[in-house]
Order: sequence, then C-alpha cells, then structure tokens
Amino acid sequence: ARGAILVTGGAGYIGSHTCKQLAMAGYLPVAFDNLARGHRSAVRWGPLVEGDIRDVAALEGAIRRYRPDAICHIAALAYVGESVADPAAYYSNNVLGTLSVLDAARRTGIDRLVFSSSCATYGEPDVLPVPEGAEQRPISPYGRSKLMGEQIIRDYAHAYDSRYVILRYFNACGCDPAGEIGEWHSHETHLVPRVLMAAHGILASIEIYGDDHATPDGTCVRDYIHVTDLARAHGLALEHLARGGENLALNLGTGQGLSVQQILDAAARQTGNPVPSTIQPRRQGDPPILYADPSLARRTLGFTTQHSDIDTILGTALAELASRQPKSIVQAT
Ligand code: UFG
Repeated sequence: ARGAILVTGGAGYIGSHTCKQLAMAGYLPVAFDNLARGHRSAVRWGPLVEGDIRDVAALEGAIRRYRPDAICHIAALAYVGESVADPAAYYSNNVLGTLSVLDAARRTGIDRLVFSSSCATYGEPDVLPVPEGAEQRPISPYGRSKLMGEQIIRDYAHAYDSRYVILRYFNACGCDPAGEIGEWHSHETHLVPRVLMAAHGILASIEIYGDDHATPDGTCVRDYIHVTDLARAHGLALEHLARGGENLALNLGTGQGLSVQQILDAAARQTGNPVPSTIQPRRQGDPPILYADPSLARRTLGFTTQHSDIDTILGTALAELASRQPKSIVQAT
C-alpha cells in the first residue's frame, strides 16, 4: 500500500471523488473538512478529520496523527456568483485557508502539494483553446482568490523548497460511475444537474443565462470534464511529485467546448424528455467561451479523459440523481 494523503475538502464533491480514486490507487485518503458544504456520508475511503482549514493547529494535529506524504488542497468556496456578492467569505476561505494549509505543511515538513485551481483564473482569455501560459486576468473574486492561491504557492515553493502541481479545473460534472457518491450541493447552481432536474420536472424549467453571447449559438461555451477524470489526475500529480518531477501548473479539461444549448439538446436526447427552458439575462462574471488546451497535462502526467464524453457525464449524473429522487425519475431504458 502507498502512504496517507491529506485531502482538504475531502467531504465535498470533487474531494470525495478524489478520495475514492486515491484509495483505488492504494493510498489512504485522510479527509479534512469543516462540513460547511461537504457531507460526512461522502467520506468512505479513509478517516474524516473535522476541522477548518484556517485553523493551523487543527491541520497540524491531523498531519502529526496520520503522517501523510503529501497534501491535496481542494477545500474552497467555488461559486462565481456568490463570490461577487460575498468576497469576504471567498478571500477568507480560499486565500487565508491556503496560507494556513501551507504553513501547517511547512511546520510539519510536508513538502508536496497538489492544489485545486480553476479556469476562472483566466477570465476572458485572448487565446482559445486556452494554454497554461495565457495571461491570468480573473473577472470574479472567486477567480482572483484562486490566482492568489497559485501565487502564494509559487512563492513558498521558491523560498522554502517545497513542490507543487497546480491543477486548473475546467467545468467539473458527472458523478462516480459506481454511484457511491454524487454531487450533493444543497442549492444546486451548476448547469448539468439543473438541466437533468428540468428534464425530469424537479425544476419547472432551466434558465439559460444569455443567448446573445459572441458564440456560435449565442449561449456560453464551457469545457465539461467528468469529476472521476479530474479525481484521477490528482493521483497522477502525486506520482509525478513522488518521482521528483518539476513544479507544474496544468489545465484539466477535454479540449472541447460545448454550449449551454448543446447540453440541453444532449439531455433531451439522453432522457427522452424535452428540457423546458427560459432565456434570462447574462449572469455576472460569466465569460462567453472557455475551453482548455489540455496537451500539457497529457505530456507531463500522461493524463487523458476517459469518462468525459457528454453522454457519460449526463448518464452518471442522472443515475445518481435517480438514486436520491427515485419518485421523480423514471429512467429511460
Ligand atoms: N448556466 C445556465 N443556466 C443555469 C446554470 C448555468 O445557463 O441554470 C450556464 C452558465 O451561464 C455557464 C454554464 O452554464 O455558461 C456553466 O455554468 P455553471 O454554473 O455550471 O459553471 P460555471 O462555469 O459558472 O462555474 C464552474 C465552477 C467554478 C469554476 C467555473 C469556471 O462552479 O468553480 O466553472 O468556469 F470556476
């Protein structure tokens, strides 16, 4: 067996899927989570340490107890719109929280970090598909908080000889294909689950945030990547660091952009139901087009996506939704 890995945010959507993939690769994932947005029942592949990442002593306690080889720092607040309304919460959780994780790591001699960053750090890029070298000009407090996290990590690595892989996630979606965990957000704002809820009458309709963007069909284009693929990349990043690999910042995406309308069409095909929709004004902080150049992650980590075709994304998300809301969903066969 491999060693322990401390996974901050291990009870959350991406964190719990990462814990599962790490366990499948032979690690012991130790989830560290304050359960503000995560779920105790999503921690199934190792211990849960309940604590806040801004509490350095609590982090140090968890590290001294479980002696992890490395940290996956995933815990964060991650809603663009909420960050515009409440930047204080975002800078506190995401910037102070990252500083605290780095300080706990330094004090305990942990020198390997995998950090969850975001394509939101690019803002509205000039180049598409966006490469890692594109200028990072975030347009929301959320994106800025993640960029600050990246900058602090680089400065620490330079000064204190620690090493990192920064992972810039594009749009995480889908659920564990085995259905053991899912996307359990209390107020769901993400497109994929909302579209499926609208297809099954759990929502009356899906709001499309703008059909007058400068895109082929007027709706926003994103790069949707299955959460199990994202999760697997963390294992590859840890192996890279364990081999003594260089510090990296990597996009995690498919390289393919899909519009909001294309997601609705795919969901209608998949469920056999129409997806009622209404056109709404554009949402603040939404870039019109964002999709990745994923080639650096392939070259450095050998990372390719395996579950990220839209039918697999929708199918796994729908199966998981059906397991929680069986009365609402009669699955097409
Ligand atoms: N959208 C709708 N209707 C909805 C929900 C979303 O039209 O009901 C649109 C959005 O305008 C956007 C796309 O669908 O164009 C995807 O929206 P999501 O809310 O699912 O995802 P975001 O792209 O806003 O945000 C996600 C993550 C962030 C991350 C960001 C980077 O939540 O953490 O991707 O784009 F930073």
